[in-house]
Amino acid sequence: MIKIAPSILAADLMNMKEEIELVDNFGAEYIHIDVMDGHYVENIAFGPNIVKSLRPITKKILDVHLMITPVSKYIDAFIKAGTDIISFHPDADKNSKDIIKQIKSNNCKVGIAVHPKINISDIEIFLDDIDCVIVMTVVPGFGGQKFMHSEVNKIIELNNIKKQKNLKFEIEVDGGINHETGKICRDNNANVLVAGSYIFSSGKENYKKMINSLR
Ligand code: DX5
Ligand code: ZN
Repeated sequence: MIKIAPSILAADLMNMKEEIELVDNFGAEYIHIDVMDGHYVENIAFGPNIVKSLRPITKKILDVHLMITPVSKYIDAFIKAGTDIISFHPDADKNSKDIIKQIKSNNCKVGIAVHPKINISDIEIFLDDIDCVIVMTVVPGFGGQKFMHSEVNKIIELNNIKKQKNLKFEIEVDGGINHETGKICRDNNANVLVAGSYIFSSGKENYKKMINSLR
């Protein structure tokens, strides 16, 4: 069963509570929260306070995608705010093994996000220890970009490793997901689809249809 993770980067900030309640009621399993520092990526977006604000209004999994450097110094604040899964880019900090431990020791799930410039062989050493891998199908930083078909091989590669080693991590795909690109990901055994503009730019009356079209 595929899980859908609407990305609030594309949501209407003035009506965030309603936006979350809508996608929650329409069955989204995760709420994807992009955190950007204007340094690891060019854009700036969100911090622990948004997690704290969303926590009382939904029981869904709050899925935080850190696009920041350094990483470790912000982990505790996101956990304290009520995050369920924290994913980070291992190329953004020196000690990824320690960061993984830091996240897990606080009873939070941990993911590794894979920038298009990073190979699966670069992150393979972490796969035994983590709950999720985010395959980026755009260069991180902005919503509304075009899906990079070149990254689909990483989904295939990860799924092969998963089967060979009998590992349990989820394969989440982030960037340019719509009805067509979502199907490509599903066909290659992705487990979670992040979708920002496809859902939130469709008009409230279409959210349900958009979410269902990704399944
Ligand atoms: C991009 C972010 C994505 C973004 C996806 O850096 O990580 O989560 O919100 O947006 P869409 O679905 O519009 O490509
Ligand atoms: Zn993201």
